[in-house]
Amino acid sequence: MTQFNDITSPLTLLATRRSGKARDMIAPGPDSATIEKIVALAARTPDHGKLAPWRFIHVPQSARDALSALLRRAYGAEFPRAVGQDLSPLDQFARQAPELIILLSKPVTDAKIARHEQYLSAGAAAMNLIHAAHAHGFVANWLTGWAAENREIVAAFGGGADDKIIGYFFIGSPGKALEERPRPQFSDIFQTWPGEGL
Ligand SMILES: Cc1cc2nc3c(=O)[nH]c(=O)nc-3n(C[C@H](O)[C@H](O)[C@H](O)COP(=O)(O)O)c2cc1C
Repeated sequence: MTQFNDITSPLTLLATRRSGKARDMIAPGPDSATIEKIVALAARTPDHGKLAPWRFIHVPQSARDALSALLRRAYGAEFPRAVGQDLSPLDQFARQAPELIILLSKPVTDAKIARHEQYLSAGAAAMNLIHAAHAHGFVANWLTGWAAENREIVAAFGGGADDKIIGYFFIGSPGKALEERPRPQFSDIFQTWPGEGL
């Protein structure tokens, strides 16, 4: 994408964003003031009913061992047969990348706005978060998997029965060059209605 070189241009920003692999990320990550700016930008998101149905949970380096212990405890409780299994991938997950923000979708359950719309708003906040990180010169990686589904972990971050972890957002500097990946063909994802079908 050689035509894009000015990250301060919004079109360039959108066209050049790429995820970095969390496990490859290195320092520096955003400092506290920059994290605040990134989260403020993420929260400027479409939100039907002005419900703010999301929470951003920063897990600093000083809390990564505690996160690792939480993952191990929750994994052991969910999979009792895992005794003796190598759980070091959980430690690796918890300790990777300079910064980590967990995005929790917290729908307001007595609101008129449908719950799924509130989850979608959290997804929009997630995208803003990643773009805001990119705009500040960092890479981000949106990861989910088992650790986003486990109810004990959701509860540990203040989530209730209707709440979901939208993702673990690792942020830092890329430790390896980011290569572009294949993107869908426009003709495969776009159609004009009414038409011949996909
Ligand atoms: C909801 C959601 C969950 C994801 N979870 C994972 C994950 O657990 N592991 C993973 O390797 N990629 C996951 N991804 C994909 C990466 O975040 C990333 O989008 C992908 O590597 C493509 O890179 P790009 O952002 O540069 O297009 C997830 C994406 C989304 C939208």
